[in-house]
Amino acid sequence: MENELVIFGHRGYSGVAPENTMAAFEKALKAGADGFELDVHLTKEGELVVCHDELLDRTTNGTGLIMDKTLAELKQLDAGGWYGEAYRNQSIPTLREALQLVVGKKSLVNIELKNSLIWYEGIEEKVIQMIHEMNVQDQIILSSFNHNSILRVKQLDNTLQTGVLYSCVLVEPWEYVSRIGASSVHPSLLSINREIVDKCHENGLKVYPFFDGGYEEMSHVTKEELMALGVDGIFTNYIHRYASE
Ligand code: G3P
Ligand code: MG
Repeated sequence: MENELVIFGHRGYSGVAPENTMAAFEKALKAGADGFELDVHLTKEGELVVCHDELLDRTTNGTGLIMDKTLAELKQLDAGGWYGEAYRNQSIPTLREALQLVVGKKSLVNIELKNSLIWYEGIEEKVIQMIHEMNVQDQIILSSFNHNSILRVKQLDNTLQTGVLYSCVLVEPWEYVSRIGASSVHPSLLSINREIVDKCHENGLKVYPFFDGGYEEMSHVTKEELMALGVDGIFTNYIHRYASE
């Protein structure tokens, strides 16, 4: 059965597997998500790798910044053991490995360019090149909290779907996002209401909210509540709450 909302597994199916690992992405697709979200960074030599934090410390057995390590060094690390023994063999995926999961399928991938704390030089060019190389351009939304990056993406390839991420409560976000030229609004769920969602739609923008911080664990927002809000989809750690049986 088709999902009523577009469901993205946030960092994969991160409610049941270690975030941003191949296991989490595979589980998201298997659980009936329309796609998954991941976060990308650049290694020391400029390879695209998938991890949420700039630092390795929280989700791997390594320490320090991703930008200071080579891909070979990063591939030695365990990115699943912190979550549970069953995942001890998971490594930090490259973007290529993650995208390979959706080649030839209908599944979507939201690639978040993680370049707000560290402005990775040339990350937009590299990601766009890989998307085309793998011929998945129609399945991708590129998003970022760094909205300069979205402008750069639009400059490089105006045909790609792009989303503007934000956590604060913006005044008339549809005006801001339209000006940037993005195709969707990716707000914190706490920053929007039905009126804002309707205005975004009137301006031709899709609305895909995410749960900020621990809000998803606290709130148990239902599919019906999201439908009443009028949003087009959701980034969730708990796909089973929103996917159709
Ligand atoms: O793209 C939605 C969400 O991933 C944004 O926040 O911090 O989980 O990357 P974060
Ligand atoms: Mg993200």
